[in-house]
Amino acid sequence: MRVKWTSLFGVILLVTSLRVACSAQDATGTTLAAGVPHLQKQGNATQLIVDGKPYLAMAGELSNNAATSLENMDTIWPRLVAANLNTALIGVTWAQFEPEEGKYNYVQVDGVIAKARENHMHVVLIWFASWKNGTSSFAPYWVKKDYQRFPRIQINDGKTVSISGPLELLSTFGSETSDADAKAFGALMKHIGEVDGTQHTVVMVQVENEVGVLRDTRDRSPDANRAFAGPVPAKLMQYLEAHKDSLIPEFRDVWAANGYKNSGTWEEVFGPGKPANVEIPIQTTSPPMSALEHSNSWQSLHWPSDEIFMAWNYANYVQKVVETGKAAYNIPMFVNGWLQQPNHAWPGTFPSGGPLPEVHDVWRAGAPSVDILAPDLYLESFDEVCQRFTRNGNPLFIPETNSNPANVIVAVGKYNAIGFSPFGIDGNRPIAADLSGAYSMLEQLAPMILARQGTDSVTAVRMIQGDEPKSVKLGNYTLTFTYAGRNSRLPPQARGQVVGSAPPPGTAANSLDAPLEAAAVLISTGPDEYYFGGGGMRVDFTANSPGPGNVGLGDVQEGKFVDGKFVVTRQIAGDDDAQGEILVLRPNNIVRVTLYRYP
Ligand code: DGJ
Repeated sequence: MRVKWTSLFGVILLVTSLRVACSAQDATGTTLAAGVPHLQKQGNATQLIVDGKPYLAMAGELSNNAATSLENMDTIWPRLVAANLNTALIGVTWAQFEPEEGKYNYVQVDGVIAKARENHMHVVLIWFASWKNGTSSFAPYWVKKDYQRFPRIQINDGKTVSISGPLELLSTFGSETSDADAKAFGALMKHIGEVDGTQHTVVMVQVENEVGVLRDTRDRSPDANRAFAGPVPAKLMQYLEAHKDSLIPEFRDVWAANGYKNSGTWEEVFGPGKPANVEIPIQTTSPPMSALEHSNSWQSLHWPSDEIFMAWNYANYVQKVVETGKAAYNIPMFVNGWLQQPNHAWPGTFPSGGPLPEVHDVWRAGAPSVDILAPDLYLESFDEVCQRFTRNGNPLFIPETNSNPANVIVAVGKYNAIGFSPFGIDGNRPIAADLSGAYSMLEQLAPMILARQGTDSVTAVRMIQGDEPKSVKLGNYTLTFTYAGRNSRLPPQARGQVVGSAPPPGTAANSLDAPLEAAAVLISTGPDEYYFGGGGMRVDFTANSPGPGNVGLGDVQEGKFVDGKFVVTRQIAGDDDAQGEILVLRPNNIVRVTLYRYP
């Protein structure tokens, strides 16, 4: 048969263009197979793309061992679905995956993936391997008992300090340990690529869990001491030089205080480490801290060279594991940090060397394949932590936190979060209704929010009782929010509202309700149109562009999204918006508003 060259060329072109259409590039420009989860920049946000679309993980993390028995999971899946979760963070333990060296057990991970699919959920796997909360309890028996081949951390001086000597924590200086961990993780990822490379149930992987040295500021094993007395590796020095202008300020301050040296030992470049015979107090508040240090200590480095040294060594170890995993199946991978607590300032009271904001630059230099440095965020200062974790383009994913629905609204609306995940979601207590409500509301608004993340047309606001009104400039208007509480009633003095008349439908008073932490995501969808998700607040609009000074409420519609379309459930006017004067947002509600201007 004679082949017509023009048709052959046409076929080649078609195949080529199909391949282009079916592939995407990740944030680093690497070409990916069709639909494989990856990260992608949009404005100043970074989004998780699954099956070609941005994905918002309304998640929960299961307790550590929940999925070590698939049977145990049977009652958990329906509870997650009923609470509107679309994603579960689930641990895979090295001990269970590789009970004998080189023999892998895929039963658990296959079972988790199968059940997630049945329940229409996605999964973020957690690789509990060399470290979990600094310790090494999830390492396999054959690793635990081979003390020579898989060395442990040593702390303090072994003499004068009460907790001294080797600890049951694997040392980053065991190259056989990192090889073994990486090999097992590579096998796991290869398998996930084989069973999930087209369906994409597994969307990300957390590698290790809350790494770092506990009870001392650094590892003092002979190998560690040798490295600490030696020069700061050129690779780290070069990274710092190249990024000098954009380094995290609290880190740069440490380098600057020591004269921005571009070579030298760790102590020459970053200042003194803690002497081995100085004991770490359980709480590092006072003494030796001053009152000022007590209030701000958790935001700065103490014994910086020790923490920086450990961050470098953990980052390099984790890099090896992540690189091996990604070579087998390349999906986004992140590490999580146990944060400094206000009364735990010295490294070692929190795992020293974990991916905390003050050492993010060190992690970026040592573990370039790690996509996200994530906070386990139980602190009250939620917004501040989000700000510290989104510097220099670090995407925000919160793998562990509590169930405060205001936090998920703010994380997604204001800090472009990829996902939010309260810890221990399978616990005995029911999943909080407020959280499920917030998840449902955000999932409905997700296409609208995700299309705008990284731009200035979406944000969020939160308020507590007693707050002064807050103003936010968004689109063509300035929006001023006043706290209204759980029932979000109109004030009796509202113009047109008869004092003592019945409360508007759906806003029945209940003065016994606990005060609500009000929060709403605000989306500007047109020159005179907004969507709001959530509430507990009233909103006033002021025009911030030339034209008539007064602003009227046009359409006010409560509704829900069905198959991506907004369906109005209640058209609001009259008593429910103070005769067109006051917009009230109620918790976990979706509202569409149009505005007009008049002289
Ligand atoms: C943080 C750890 O990362 C989790 O695995 C879990 O143990 C929680 N702490 C418990 O609060």
